[in-house]
Amino acid sequence: MKTGDILELTIESLGFGGEGVAKVEDFVIFVKGGLPGQVVKAVISKKKKSHAEARITEIIKRTPEEIEAKCAHFGSCGGCKWQNLLYEKQLSFKQQQVTDCLEHIAKMKTPPVLPILSSPQQFGYRNKVEFSFGYANMSIDKTDDEKWVYHDEDPTLGFHKAGKWESVVNIDHCDLISEGMNTVFTRIKEWCLSQDKDVYNQKTNQGFWRQVVMRENHKGEILLNIVTTTGEPFEFFESLRPLLVELNIQSCFLTFFDGVNSYWPDGLIQHFAGDEFIFEEVLGQTFCISPESFFQTNTKGAEVLYSEVIRLLKDVPSKSILDLYCGTGTIGQVVAGADKKKHIIGVELLESAVEDAEDNAKRNGLENVAYFAGKAEKILPEILEQFPKFDVLIIDPPRAGMHPKARKLLSEMGVKNCVYISCNPSTKDGYFETLLLSTVDDNLKKCYDEFLDCIEFKNKSHHKYIMEQLHKLTSPEKPYDFSSDNFKELKDKLIKIFQ
Ligand SMILES: C[S@@+](CC[C@H](N)C(=O)[O-])C[C@H]1O[C@@H](n2cnc3c(N)ncnc32)[C@H](O)[C@@H]1O
Repeated sequence: MKTGDILELTIESLGFGGEGVAKVEDFVIFVKGGLPGQVVKAVISKKKKSHAEARITEIIKRTPEEIEAKCAHFGSCGGCKWQNLLYEKQLSFKQQQVTDCLEHIAKMKTPPVLPILSSPQQFGYRNKVEFSFGYANMSIDKTDDEKWVYHDEDPTLGFHKAGKWESVVNIDHCDLISEGMNTVFTRIKEWCLSQDKDVYNQKTNQGFWRQVVMRENHKGEILLNIVTTTGEPFEFFESLRPLLVELNIQSCFLTFFDGVNSYWPDGLIQHFAGDEFIFEEVLGQTFCISPESFFQTNTKGAEVLYSEVIRLLKDVPSKSILDLYCGTGTIGQVVAGADKKKHIIGVELLESAVEDAEDNAKRNGLENVAYFAGKAEKILPEILEQFPKFDVLIIDPPRAGMHPKARKLLSEMGVKNCVYISCNPSTKDGYFETLLLSTVDDNLKKCYDEFLDCIEFKNKSHHKYIMEQLHKLTSPEKPYDFSSDNFKELKDKLIKIFQ
């Protein structure tokens, strides 16, 4: 198989990136836009050692689960991947992906995966959206004297094109956000594009207008953030004020950012009009939302997720909880609100998020929570000195997973109950973390077996290592405390061996 080959493929499943997965004699081919059950003709666009990528040229057989996508921009827009697949089918594939990860990465034989929970809304559910300025038509040509010339046409505000990130699809409506946000988007887009300023060009890193970011709460109040490059004073935006009033914008920020990537929180974020926050309610608790703070993008979906955390902890002795990567404290505070006897320690990188978490706790009348700002991997040892014992860990790390140091520290704590929330279950690290932290008892059994094995083989260094692991897993507070019940089985075996 080589790039350019056209193959007839049967799509078997969906990959984590949303592509269809087909196989030719066990060799995996990711087919862009392919749906399970389809038979397609596809051209190989990239061939690597481990897998290939392909683009559909013809659909030979459709799948009964395929539906008409609601959005006119589906396919060209880089936003949604599965809008043309029945929602029930999307759910069953996502559940299968979790099972596959546990089987293939964590090597579990029959992983006990619970039935998947669905989002209460399939459309209009997003409370946050990031639109980008750019050109709908971008091409590059070689002149007669061998120079490259860029053609940038049709400046607009929309979403990045699928597979062509420097171009922007000219969106007129997005089905994932509310009608209120769509109206604000249309009017702000008109205002920006009517000013005598260029849109930002990702290729040349030139131009003024970069992004329009919006967040909305259940009351329909909107926090608007307009991102531009530097160069214009605040006064330039004065003529925007009447429109903000007309659109009833609750809060408006301006962000000035010259970086080449699109990570605008690295820019200078300035309050421009209205309030400095909007507030959102989740399971009876109130949380403030500022431009850069993390907040789950599907509020009703977050309530389903957080209710599940409360349910999982219901029958677990969990007086002291470590809420790692806690953001503005949402998960810990809904747990603390549901049971005031629990004590929560939250750890979060961003100082601004920790300040928000502290304010949220006051607003929610919670005295059983406390927060620490800093990198988990750095500040955990200090926290563990003050609070050496936790009954439960709640871990909700960023997409890249935990820092190896944080993972090591947590696994050494020997906490037996862990709720791990993963937004990227396919990473090896993510599953390693889950496995390590959620199967402490199995690890313990494995340690017993290895310990007994190495006594037989008289491998002293291995023996010492396992002894240390056993100790950390069972009674971290007292060195080699053989009075702990967890050591009973081992003690009995040792007595027999040494008698
Ligand atoms: C997926 S969010 C979870 C937020 C929160 N649990 C929630 O549900 O709203 C991950 C959080 O981890 C924080 N973070 C990223 N790297 C970190 C680190 N090294 N140490 C501590 N927090 C970190 C981010 O700022 C972000 O707030």
